[in-house]
Amino acid sequence: MLSRPVCLVTGSSSGIGAAIVAEYAARGYDVVVNYNSGAERAEKIAAEIREDHGVAALVLGADLADAEAAYALVDGAYDHYGRLDVVVSNSGVANYVQDEQGNLVRYRFSETPIGHLDKEMDRVLSLNLMGAYRLAQRALQKMVAQAEKETEPLHRSILFITSISDIAPESTRIPYGVSKSGLNHAVIGAAFDGGPYNITVNALRPGVIDTPLTARPSGIEDPQTGREFTVADTYGLMAEGGAQPIRRIGRPEDIAFAAYAFTQIPYMTGQLVAIDGGFTLPGNFPNRDLFLQEGLRRRQE
Ligand SMILES: NC(=O)c1ccc[n+]([C@@H]2O[C@H](COP(=O)([O-])OP(=O)(O)OC[C@H]3O[C@@H](n4cnc5c(N)ncnc54)[C@H](OP(=O)(O)O)[C@@H]3O)[C@@H](O)[C@H]2O)c1
Repeated sequence: MLSRPVCLVTGSSSGIGAAIVAEYAARGYDVVVNYNSGAERAEKIAAEIREDHGVAALVLGADLADAEAAYALVDGAYDHYGRLDVVVSNSGVANYVQDEQGNLVRYRFSETPIGHLDKEMDRVLSLNLMGAYRLAQRALQKMVAQAEKETEPLHRSILFITSISDIAPESTRIPYGVSKSGLNHAVIGAAFDGGPYNITVNALRPGVIDTPLTARPSGIEDPQTGREFTVADTYGLMAEGGAQPIRRIGRPEDIAFAAYAFTQIPYMTGQLVAIDGGFTLPGNFPNRDLFLQEGLRRRQE
């Protein structure tokens, strides 16, 4: 009997990754649930997957900021199942670290103290860029080895969850954007290595999605309650106000559905595709009246 296809999703103990791993399980894949700090969450997600979908769910921990961990994770998944068909590199952190006093801080580009910048860059580059890079290197090696044994290689796929922050600038989020735009370049390069073996490599660039990552404070106060909005609250309000054609922020399921779809397209590779409700569409044309009024107000000042 043929074994089921296998999918590894990094950072599947939370948010977008948890939704992605459940999507593959629902489609009949055996899966690997990966966590860093959330062992209990990962075990619970895996138990639900086995119960709901009747597929195998292996739980593996890894701190992917650690140089050896990405290789060990891919090897662990491959050794357990004996095959690897889809790898989704999803683990990621925002550049949101503490100052000397333990306060959470984010600085604008020109104001970031040099020591702090080093720490922020280390945090985002070691995981978002290097961890994902190494993971894909190893995944590609394993997938190529499988393809070499097949007369007509199966379609296999590597998907990176990057971000629209690669091009959408926000002055206090630049290190994060640097990590994600750097990763986009790795996607294009890896596509050339995978193509001859029927392995596609793409990036899915989410807009703002409602997860624990965007549940952090935004620094903007609700004028009615005095309570600080979360990042998700702020972008949700902006979406309702017309910042994007689809008037809500995304849900993890929106990304999970797209992730699955992207890895099933044998003739798409090296693409960097936004799933963002239209947030990054150029123009802001629907807001012309707003900008006109603001321009007039400023001239009159
Ligand atoms: N939410 C958004 O608006 C948004 C937008 C664009 C892109 N993204 C990207 O989508 C991905 C998932 O984000 P999310 O919103 O789902 O965030 P999340 O809920 O905070 O989940 C992040 C995941 O990454 C894992 N992780 C953190 N540090 C790790 C490490 N050192 N090694 C291995 N895994 C680690 C976490 O594992 P533990 O919990 O077990 O520690 C968790 O499973 C990230 O790459 C993020 O940059 C998110």
